[in-house]
Amino acid sequence: MFLEPGAETIQRCARCGATWPEHEPSAECRDCGGLLEVVHPHPGVGVDSLVARFAARSWTHPGIEASGVWRYRELVMPRMTGAVSQPEGNTPLLLREAVRAYAGVVELRLKHEGHNPTGSFKDRGMTVALTQAKRIGARAVACASTGNTAASLAAYAAHAGIPALVLVPRGRIALGKLTQALAYGARTLLVDGDFDACLRLAREASRELGVYLVNSINPWRIEGQKTIVLELLQQLGWDAPEWIAFPAGNLGNCAAFGKALREAHALGLIARVPRLAAVQAAGAAPFAASFATGFTSRTRVQAETVASAIRIGDPASWDRAVRAIVETRGVVTAVTDDEILDAKAVIDASGVGCEPASAASVAGVRQLRARETIGKKDRVIAVLTGHVLKDPDTVLAYHGGGVPGAARANAAVEIPAELGAVERVLRGSA
Ligand code: F0G
Repeated sequence: MFLEPGAETIQRCARCGATWPEHEPSAECRDCGGLLEVVHPHPGVGVDSLVARFAARSWTHPGIEASGVWRYRELVMPRMTGAVSQPEGNTPLLLREAVRAYAGVVELRLKHEGHNPTGSFKDRGMTVALTQAKRIGARAVACASTGNTAASLAAYAAHAGIPALVLVPRGRIALGKLTQALAYGARTLLVDGDFDACLRLAREASRELGVYLVNSINPWRIEGQKTIVLELLQQLGWDAPEWIAFPAGNLGNCAAFGKALREAHALGLIARVPRLAAVQAAGAAPFAASFATGFTSRTRVQAETVASAIRIGDPASWDRAVRAIVETRGVVTAVTDDEILDAKAVIDASGVGCEPASAASVAGVRQLRARETIGKKDRVIAVLTGHVLKDPDTVLAYHGGGVPGAARANAAVEIPAELGAVERVLRGSA
């Protein structure tokens, strides 16, 4: 799992075992096409020193290590130079009674990744990917995206001064995300196809045209996204919860969370490994379907769901996500769009807010508790992956009468510019 202390970090093919140096620019094995995994040297210090080191790098720390990603640099990129950081991470763990009661569990904390600089967890992987892009001298960076990766890449590439190319499905990307990609200056290609087609195209472009691919198949993205788990464990005083629930699309987070837990456990940072609960949208649930067969089958689907971030039919990080679920005795489940929008309305009305895909995590917790997969006394973390403003169209449709059965709609009221009208509304609501 770790190399000898002091060794150089390597990249290893998860399929054939071939090893590549730290500066290898291909995200895929040049021998067999498998996905690569970053393997670091052991930090070379005991767990107490490591914990103390992480604790000292708080947000008041003067340097780059105040970032919620680079705080854990020994486990992310030990020989980091010239980090491209906003900074990112340092996201809150929120307690909201209304959301806990809705989910029906004894303890629920919301790890809100929407508090990152571009409003999603993608910034954690992107700071590492763009740092690596600079280290290897990449001339241009590219990604396929359902939106958040594009927004994050655009921002971090601008910061690094490297030209960025983003491929997104035309007409199928939420407004806030498209707005960000354009504003931060990425060359934005609206592809006539779905996310899966965009990713195929991006992979070809990286092979044939020499642009550095920073989708989550890029192993450095995974290293950054591990810090969602490392940070929440640190926030809990390294006392691991029973469950970590999160929305699952391309399965980068599932892979990253599994790797983070494996390494944290091996280093003695946690005594027990929490179980992962990966939650897909019912219309985009090939991983949940495969889980139901004990991962003996793998299918692709034509993905359709209101949660555009996870509208993915052929997830790229499949094998490493299977490993994460198996190793953590995790589960994979699917929730309907109605369940997603209902959970989102509860999260939003608690003052927290999130984008539709993020609400799948809470909808999944509610379902798994109702089925008693999650036990009565189990403590649960639900990861909210993106900010409420990412997808304003879905919010307006829900509250404006555009969603049949929207039980929690908060319709706006039009009035003439008169005090009497304000009074009538106040009386009506009282
Ligand atoms: N939640 C949000 C808000 C996302 O944007 C994504 C993925 C996920 C969950 C799923 O994470 O892919 O690691 O399983 N968005 C990617 C993108 C695909 O292009 O922005 P995953």
